[in-house]
This record gives sequence, C-alpha cells and structure tokens, in this order.
Amino acid sequence: MINNIIYTQNIAESIELLLSQKEYDKLFIVTDENTHRFAMPLLSDSKACVDAKEIIILANDTNKTLENLSTIWKSLVEEGATRKSLLINLGGGMVTDMGGFAAATFKRGIEHINIPTTLLGAVDAAVGGKTGINFEGLKNEIGAFKQPSAVLIDTRFFKTLSKEHLLSGFAEMLKHGLISNMENYNKLITFNISNPDYNELLNLVADSVSIKEDIVEQDPLEKGVRKYLNLGHTTGHAIESLAMKRNTPVQHGYAVAWGLACEAILSYMKFGFSQPEIHRLVDYVKANYGAFPISCDDYAYLYEKITHDKKNESGRINYTLLKAIGEVEINVSVTKEEIESSFDLYRDLFGL
Ligand code: GLY
Repeated sequence: MINNIIYTQNIAESIELLLSQKEYDKLFIVTDENTHRFAMPLLSDSKACVDAKEIIILANDTNKTLENLSTIWKSLVEEGATRKSLLINLGGGMVTDMGGFAAATFKRGIEHINIPTTLLGAVDAAVGGKTGINFEGLKNEIGAFKQPSAVLIDTRFFKTLSKEHLLSGFAEMLKHGLISNMENYNKLITFNISNPDYNELLNLVADSVSIKEDIVEQDPLEKGVRKYLNLGHTTGHAIESLAMKRNTPVQHGYAVAWGLACEAILSYMKFGFSQPEIHRLVDYVKANYGAFPISCDDYAYLYEKITHDKKNESGRINYTLLKAIGEVEINVSVTKEEIESSFDLYRDLFGL
C-alpha cells in the first residue's frame, strides 16, 4: 500500500499513536480559517500536538496560490523546519493539495500526513499523492506527485458537513463505482445521499477509498490506469469553468456529476454503453444535483475549455470513457461534433 489509511472516531488518539511510531523534530499543522476554528480543537487534545506550530491559510480554492504557498514555506523557514519535520494538513482538498505541495518542495521534500475534513477530500484529494497549486488562472497547473505518509479519516467530520458538501464528495464516489464494478456502483446509485445513513456512508467511503488506492498503487504517476479516475472530469472541468464565468460557481463534485452524465452519453455514442444505465445515472443526478443549464450558445465555450484540458496530449482531446460499468477505455479521441451531440442528448435527458 502506498498510503497508510487510518479510520478513526478520535483523531487526537490516532495521531498520538501514529506519532509514537516515528520521531520527528518539529511538527507543523496547516489549517485554513474554517478548519482552524472547527477541526483544530479536536486535535488540540493530543499531547503530541501541543508544541506543533499551526500555519493558518486563507480558505477556498481561489487561495490555492503561489502567495499562500509562500506563506507556508516562510513559516517553515522561520520556525526552523528540517528534513526531519512533519507537516500535518488538516482540511479539505485545498489544504491537502497546497500543504502537500509545500511538503514536496520544502528542502526537496519532508514527510506529510493528510487529515481530510470533507467527504471530497477523504475520497479524492487527500489520497493518491497529487499535490499542487493553481497558477495563471489554471487549476493545479504547478504541482508534484508526493505520497502522504498517512491519511487519517475522522468520520465525525462528515456528520457536520452541509448537504452540498456531502453531494460534492459523493459524485467522486459514483465515479469510483462506475470505473470499478457493478456491485459497488449498485450500492451507491441506490443510496439516499440526501438523507444519509452515516454508518452505511462510512462503509461506502471505505470501499471508495480502497478503489482509488488500488488504482494509484498500480499507476502512481498517471501513465495509464490512473487515468480511469478522470472519468467525468474532462466535461466536468469545462462545466466548472462555465459556471465560474457566469458568476455562479458550483462545487467541484456537482460539475463532476453532470460531467459523468455527459461522458456516459459519449460512452454510449462511442462504445454502446448501456442506455438503461445512462437513464439510471441521469435520474440520480437530476434528483440530487439538479440540472446544470446549458444552451447551444454555451457549446463553443465548453468545447474551447475541453480542448485546453491538461489531460490532452499533442492536440488530441483525451477522454476516459466506459464500455460498461467497470470496463474503462482511456485516451479516447472524440470529435467536436460528437461532443456537441452529447450536449444535445444531455439537454434532452435533463429536460433543458
Ligand atoms: N483526482 C484524480 C487522481 O487523483 O488521480
């Protein structure tokens, strides 16, 4: 296993145990304004963390910038961090991405631990070792692969999340189901995420994390099979940008949910992916995430964003699509006409 994933109901106790297994000279905890207030108190009970230096950064993905990264580097320098120091990232994807990148680059790399405080973070960002910052308006443009020494998932955090945050994380879980197997997917697509049973959700989270871990373990640097994890994201990122341009930003996972629907349609067009499964997915997405409004006037903008996706190579648009649930095709080239037809079908299916 690349990652050491620990599920706990008592983060202070678990961190204590973890830190007793290895000696670090100094401890740093990166939080944002929200996790400083709501999550840090849970950690403060731990004796091991009493002397830790907390580095508080601004919240939200818009602050995943070079300036804020520099704040972390500066604190590490000022407090005399060494290669034997440990950085603990306590927060959502923004904190684990940027804190992880600080750990990857400081003195050419120090150890770090992720403690995700959102569902999206637990099932995606905190696991797998992608770290980075946004740059020149481009998401995650600068970054590094750097595996965390451990990921501690305190399940209490999820109970306090808003419905929107839960749904956002759940979309990545749906993706893991679609790329892995029908058994897992069936459990997800029949789960009532709008009124969740938390014990059942935890089982689903553990399954989802292990699907991701398994893929990352086979292909940590995304040369092949890790591209499975990009399902829904080529279209999803374009939808996220369009929402941002309209000044009505949407949560990442919502864009992924709509992206999964569009890419299931493309999968049908390219590989005959099952129509009943498209309807099952669309019904679930429509019921829980609503419909993202698209008209033909948006096609040009969406296409332009899709052609600039980081995942493309040598001018080719590279999609990850499905032949069936659990049967994935990577590096699929798709034409402009096919993409536009998929948007037409998306609008029909979502009643737009
Ligand atoms: N978020 C997709 C990956 O970690 O590869």
